[in-house]
Amino acid sequence: MYILLMGPPGAGKGTQAEKLVEKFEIPHISTGDMFRAAVKEGTELGKQAKACMDAGQLVPDSVTIGIVKERLAKPDCKQGFILDGFPRTIEQADALDRTLAELGIRLNRVINISVPAADLVSRATGRRICKSCGATYHIIFKPATLTDKCDKCTGDLYQRDDDREETITKRLAVYSAQTKPLVEYYQDKGLYTEIDGRQPIDKVLSDIVASLRGE
Ligand code: AP5
Ligand code: ZN
Repeated sequence: MYILLMGPPGAGKGTQAEKLVEKFEIPHISTGDMFRAAVKEGTELGKQAKACMDAGQLVPDSVTIGIVKERLAKPDCKQGFILDGFPRTIEQADALDRTLAELGIRLNRVINISVPAADLVSRATGRRICKSCGATYHIIFKPATLTDKCDKCTGDLYQRDDDREETITKRLAVYSAQTKPLVEYYQDKGLYTEIDGRQPIDKVLSDIVASLRGE
């Protein structure tokens, strides 16, 4: 199953990807996670990515396309993948088309998790993430049961630098200008499904799974 997960910042892409990975046993490829890992390692890529991420801007297409191309060529992508947060521009989408054609892969579905802008700020500011395993929590919508510890591995939880209100507002504007045009791009290809992301997490998941099964 080759799945592309789209949606504005804080819509629930990472949350759903975590669950889809368990269900379909395919890798989760998140460009945001790849950039955060590079920042943690202190590589050149990490330095460049951090400057863009902290400003709420996209990392340049040439850089992003390069790392995704490399990742998709790895053997574990042969049985499927969940691509989360890529593509984010028309140029990235065209590059993805070319890369998938070279690899002989056809996307099964493009899922757009739709949430109104008004809800996205509180989703992002309330988000907490496990330092050890990357599991996502929310101070109101998905609290960890141990105080400030991850349910899965008891790791410490942290808040992303780009989850401050002013940065989120910027990210939402960037999404509208640069990523939203991809809705039409994938509608035209007949691959597009929109899911109501305002629903509870498990209902969003069951709607995604139904769509993937063609129901
Ligand atoms: P990235 O990490 O991809 O961030 P994003 O797309 O802005 O998305 P988020 O991770 O913020 O949100 P999400 O949709 O995964 O939501 P989540 O599941 O966590 O990118 C970060 C940065 O990297 C970008 O700004 C850019 O600089 C750079 N970058 C990445 N990809 C790039 C690319 N392709 N090109 C260029 N630059 C790129 O959920 C959010 C919160 O809501 C959580 O707390 C969760 O618990 C809660 N929640 C989830 N679902 C629900 C629900 N149904 N009800 C209530 N609460 C919910
Ligand atoms: Zn954890």
